[in-house]
Amino acid sequence: MRPARRDVLRMAVGAAIGLPILPVALACGGEDLVGSSTGALLRSQARLPDPFTVPLPVPPVLRPVRTDATTDHYEITQRPGRVQVLPGLATEVWGYEGMFPGPTIEARSGRRMVVTHRNQLPVPVSVHLHGGKTPPEHDGYPTDLVLPAAGWNAGHAGHAATGRLSQGARDYVYPLEQRAATLWYHDHRMDFTGPQVYRGLAGFLLLRDEEENALPLPRGEREIPLLICDRAFAEDGSFRYPALDPTLRDRPGVTREFMRGVIGDVVLVNGAPWPLLEVTGTRYRLRFLNASNARRYRLALDPAPGHGPPFVQIGSDGGLLARPVPQDAIEIAPAERFDVVVDFSAYPVGTRVTLLNRFDAGGAGRVMRFHVVRAARDGSAVPSRLADVETLARSAATVTRTFHFFQLDDHSDWVVNGKRFDPERVDAQPRLGATEIWRLQTDLHHPVHVHLARFQVLGRGGRGPGRYDAGWKDTIDLLPGAEAEIIARFTGYRGRYVFHCHNLEHEDMAMMGNFEVV
Ligand code: C2O
Ligand code: CU
Ligand code: CU
Repeated sequence: MRPARRDVLRMAVGAAIGLPILPVALACGGEDLVGSSTGALLRSQARLPDPFTVPLPVPPVLRPVRTDATTDHYEITQRPGRVQVLPGLATEVWGYEGMFPGPTIEARSGRRMVVTHRNQLPVPVSVHLHGGKTPPEHDGYPTDLVLPAAGWNAGHAGHAATGRLSQGARDYVYPLEQRAATLWYHDHRMDFTGPQVYRGLAGFLLLRDEEENALPLPRGEREIPLLICDRAFAEDGSFRYPALDPTLRDRPGVTREFMRGVIGDVVLVNGAPWPLLEVTGTRYRLRFLNASNARRYRLALDPAPGHGPPFVQIGSDGGLLARPVPQDAIEIAPAERFDVVVDFSAYPVGTRVTLLNRFDAGGAGRVMRFHVVRAARDGSAVPSRLADVETLARSAATVTRTFHFFQLDDHSDWVVNGKRFDPERVDAQPRLGATEIWRLQTDLHHPVHVHLARFQVLGRGGRGPGRYDAGWKDTIDLLPGAEAEIIARFTGYRGRYVFHCHNLEHEDMAMMGNFEVV
């Protein structure tokens, strides 16, 4: 596979210029690099459907139970649900409202939102709004657990002793004082985030504002959130995951060969395997989210359109870009979001357009298909100016910190600056309102995510930002042996937050730190 070889080359270059850690994937070979991702491939045992036969589902929009002058109130019950993912088989998911993905929340910037989460699962949960500017006690800190309504033996809680615990339910309060963006909410339980997200605990929150609503972008049925993730299935249709303790009660972690990440052989979009969407020959706004535990994708359209760029990128993790960026492909790491417009009028009616993942061949090299079924009127446009986006200047930074993300030599855990995550240890104390530069270094692929603060990418490896770095980000895709500089302003709230690798197996195996805004 070409991309994998390119990455190996990059690692070799990294090693040659004297980076401190020799990438283990280079030493071990085998399946450590799957389709340009760090992880091991887990194969399905169930009969898989032919691709592009299942219609694309779009998660339903959750209705508030109550709204008043300032606040929208929602209720979500986390519970097991039986859904049909593979034709003819039932899959048990652990989902928000028993669904996978969870219901989409449509929220308005500046309007307060309160979500009451009830836990009817057999394990503790913690809910994080990824991309949210949220007070620390509502940010889904890994040890701030909502224990099962049916009861929980404290002996199982492990690290929970240090967190703020609630029994059965709790309210999460979100001021949402931030610009429009594609956010997502997902589980964040200490040591068990990987398996709990894998079982289904993830959903979209689409935050809108006036600035964005005033633009003539495609909307309604032509604006589609696409949650992309990979999974493997057991013969009976259940999700396969190599947990040491499949009940997810006591012992965290995965079997040794999957320590670098769990990579499935089936690509799901909004919970459906390689789905099909009928589209009109018009513009569509697609909001890509990579909700995979470890897999990276290089999304491309096949065939490419007869004229114009395949994708016009209009937004990133933190909302609209200043101006649109034409892209031939979209490289997306776990937890990243890319907001793009695709113009299907560039294809003759009848064309079947496949969304490929060029980082893989075979099954996981395909994502979904669009079938252009008819021409239609299109009043949408992509303006050449999208939004006012402030640029953070390097000179505004008062502090520079360095964080090195790597695996310990004994391959036991993933660490930041040599240290395993410890809820009691604070690794950085930015001042409220301060601008800081964080220098991030890696041994393998690590998509690094910072809670609370959005950032901009200043540069990579001594050069400028990469072609997918535009705009406000909250997660940065770092390749093996990479070094990047990001710049962030820590506004909003004082208190303790986490930053971590969003390869969920790495996160669960300690690749996380605390920062406290003071
Ligand atoms: Cu999307 Cu701390 O996570
Ligand atoms: Cu987050
Ligand atoms: Cu990582």
